[in-house]
Amino acid sequence: MCGIVGFTGQENALPILMKGLYSLEYRGYDSAGIAVFTDDGLQVVKTKGRIANLEEKLHEAGNPSSTCGIGHTRWATHGGPSDRNSHPHLGGRDGKVAVVHNGIIENYLFLREQLEKHGYEFQSETDTETVAHLIDFLHKGRQQEDLAQTVLTALSLLRGSYALGVVSMEDSREIVAARRDNPLIIGLGEGENMIASDITAIISRTRRYIILDDNEVAVVRPERVTVYNQLGDVVDKPVQEVSWDLSAAEKGGYAHFMLKEIMEQPRAVADTVRPRIQDGRIVFEDNGLTDERLRETEHIHIIACGSALHAGMVGQSVIESMGRVRCSVSVASEFRYTDPIVKEKDLCIVISQSGETADSLAAMRQAQAEGAFTLAIVNVVSSSIARQADGVLYTWAGPEIAVATTKGYSAQLAALYLVAAKLALARGLMDEAEERSFCEALLELPESIHKMLEDVGTVQYLASKYTNRSSVFYLGRGLDYAAALEASLKLKEISYVHSEAYAAGELKHGTISLIEDGTLVVALATQKRLFEKTVSNIREVTARGAEVILVTTEDFDGDVSACRCVIRLPACLERFAASLSIIPLQLFAYYVAVERSCDVDKPRNLAKSVTVE
Ligand code: AGP
Repeated sequence: MCGIVGFTGQENALPILMKGLYSLEYRGYDSAGIAVFTDDGLQVVKTKGRIANLEEKLHEAGNPSSTCGIGHTRWATHGGPSDRNSHPHLGGRDGKVAVVHNGIIENYLFLREQLEKHGYEFQSETDTETVAHLIDFLHKGRQQEDLAQTVLTALSLLRGSYALGVVSMEDSREIVAARRDNPLIIGLGEGENMIASDITAIISRTRRYIILDDNEVAVVRPERVTVYNQLGDVVDKPVQEVSWDLSAAEKGGYAHFMLKEIMEQPRAVADTVRPRIQDGRIVFEDNGLTDERLRETEHIHIIACGSALHAGMVGQSVIESMGRVRCSVSVASEFRYTDPIVKEKDLCIVISQSGETADSLAAMRQAQAEGAFTLAIVNVVSSSIARQADGVLYTWAGPEIAVATTKGYSAQLAALYLVAAKLALARGLMDEAEERSFCEALLELPESIHKMLEDVGTVQYLASKYTNRSSVFYLGRGLDYAAALEASLKLKEISYVHSEAYAAGELKHGTISLIEDGTLVVALATQKRLFEKTVSNIREVTARGAEVILVTTEDFDGDVSACRCVIRLPACLERFAASLSIIPLQLFAYYVAVERSCDVDKPRNLAKSVTVE
């Protein structure tokens, strides 16, 4: 997803902007650029490719020195990756305005046609360039007006989503920032201030920041920051303090952020559950999940995307088995358009690591409009979903930088286990003794995950052996099917190896035709009552030449002679097995991607937070 950074202060902006852009790399991008004020006016340097390419171009341009500027990493939506489609975009023929943008302007073509009638010539295919020319056009007609007022007027003409940084030759110390449905924060320093898409871009300069809300505009100067609402009234904004230190957002000696974050999972789960278990009892912060609400809940909707969706599928199984309340799981981008049946007594759980996924945010708003109570399970504090939900259950996994989520996913599972137990308690389906043993098992989970992380060698061997397979199948039933989906996504998103996850009983209804000599199949069997069924599925595929890696429990006593490798999980509550079975499969995906020399932390085409629909 696009990244925005801006700086205005006393020091040379260029190195600060570049450091900010590097810290935003993890969001996923295909081009980058900056705009700074120089004696010759606004200088824009931008390029397709990595930030290193931008550094080369800046060097060729003499590394322009300035105390104010904006920067951008672009994840292409309108117009492919190219120099001319890169941001910043200049407004007007004289290029007195520069704009960087994250989001999608839905009515940009109409505005572009109108501006072309006024003589504007477009250099790119982007929606963003329309915003730059629109601001220039409006500002030319309102010379007496300051830039912020013009930006407010321009925003009233835009449909769609945006986080914007705007600079103008009118004032070389000023940045105007605005947002709607895309995150943007203002970093507060001493004699300097910044704008950024997220905290990682400002934390090396300041730990204090404010969050812009939708339809607000900020005027950012070295000496002050002023925020306006849509009516142009000044609004006071609370100052937030970053809750983690810079090292948490750095590799810490690991080859990749993903490996570091895989290894951080015991801590991520522990930090998510421990604050909510006191003297063997589950104690929630004030997140609206009262016993009364849980008793009255008639249907639970879990809504999410990607890995968060897979966590939700595990959650569905655990919630229904413990709380005996109907629980459905919906793909957020589908939920919105299927005219869902949501009632006032329904509980809607929106799961999102970033808290900025546009589809999940929009689906949550729809559920709210239908009267449901919305609980966000989110990792990023004060993110859009967290701030707009009726209640929040934070996962405390710390900053997750790798595009492929691991510790964020594991922490989501832990949070869902807590919700399931609270539901069971509220509905009289769990007594105090059962609660205590549940909590004891949950507190032991981090150590069990740690044990799974100790035997990396077997997985590394398997990855080297199977790294050149063109396709991999993952099979499981119930909880294991949800885990199989996540394991499959991990492999394909970072190694680019095609993979499919199947409900083990479903394979024979068609897809088994793809199984042939040497096909790699990863089978998950952690649910005792389903062991025999899964064994027969293993036999089905090995009979057709498949090579099977089985992930199962220590006490699995089925015939494993047909399997090429068996990975056994340490004893744990069966309901928590998905938290363990995913560990070796995350590592398998990681090492296959390393073997294939893939960009593990920043896989092609992917973004860490998909803030566009
Ligand atoms: C998972 O590894 C991917 N990064 C992706 O599927 C991700 O889970 C999905 O985009 C949802 O992101 P969110 O949890 O931030 O909402």
